Amino acid sequence: MEKSEQDRLREEVDEVLHGSKGAAQPPQVEEQNACSNVRHVIGVVSGKGGVGKSLVCGILAVNLARRGARVGILDADITGPSVPRMMGLAGERARAVDELLVPNRTAGGIKVMSANLVLEHESDPVLWRGPVVAGAIKQFWSECAWGELDYLLVDMPPGTGDVALTVFQSLPVDGVVIVSSPQDLVQMVVGKAVNMANLMQVPVLGLVENMAYVECPHCGERIYPYGPSRLAETAEAFDVEALGQLGIDPALAAACDDGTFERALPEGLLAEATDTVVRVAEFVDAVRGGTGA
Ligand SMILES: Nc1ncnc2c1ncn2[C@@H]1O[C@H](COP(=O)(O)OP(=O)(O)O)[C@@H](O)[C@H]1O
Ligand SMILES: [Mg+2]
Repeated sequence: MEKSEQDRLREEVDEVLHGSKGAAQPPQVEEQNACSNVRHVIGVVSGKGGVGKSLVCGILAVNLARRGARVGILDADITGPSVPRMMGLAGERARAVDELLVPNRTAGGIKVMSANLVLEHESDPVLWRGPVVAGAIKQFWSECAWGELDYLLVDMPPGTGDVALTVFQSLPVDGVVIVSSPQDLVQMVVGKAVNMANLMQVPVLGLVENMAYVECPHCGERIYPYGPSRLAETAEAFDVEALGQLGIDPALAAACDDGTFERALPEGLLAEATDTVVRVAEFVDAVRGGTGA
């Protein structure tokens, strides 16, 4: 990337953080409560909404749970929460015990906290302003009884605005996976996400390209409606790992809608991205001396 472009993005992030130019503050992480021992927090981010961030978050969570890990999902997309429906928890409400929120559990044992689990009606629009949204995310971390978790996946707020920055500042994020769709790869959208992570000093685990192709249901041939994949090229340009691709899969979209996703998810999707999450977690454990979070 051009130096001048990087400087511009740095200024943009600084402006969001401080209302003026200046160096980004080191994160001031919120404490975990006595009912939570979360070993690794992994964020799933995108430069904009609708690219499949929640889907990738869900796939990583199910893959990790199938490998035997204890997994939670913090749905930090407060104004567009989609995790409960996808994970078969539509219509459920979270309980509160001793001033702590208790996450709901999927059939497969994944714990979920989301605005949709605390709103009175699932279809209520969330009209909260930025600081209230940021406060809700902090609360889902510091006032939620997560119990023992190996991984807490955070479905980050879309984009690179102040709410996304709050998550980076208040949660001890080990690393982020960036999701983008083919058209975004050539744009600055990926660059914004990478720069936000860099400025917040959060490692980028790599890039997942979603909706990269469609498979012909008759012959299995892959059609690339947006042209040939630019994943490798984009990953190289921003100096991040290419973690894999997802095609457009109508069965997967249906499973997200009807809540059968956890059961219906085919084996092997985003296996490499899942391996990377595990590897980074093991590395972090080794650095911490295996003492946990
Ligand atoms: N690879 C895919 N195949 C089919 N449908 C997809 C795919 N990726 C995303 N979708 C669908 O597109 C919509 C947006 O995806 P979602 O993961 O909610 O995006 P985001 O969280 O980035 O806003 C959802 O309805 C989802 O089921
Ligand atoms: Mg989403």
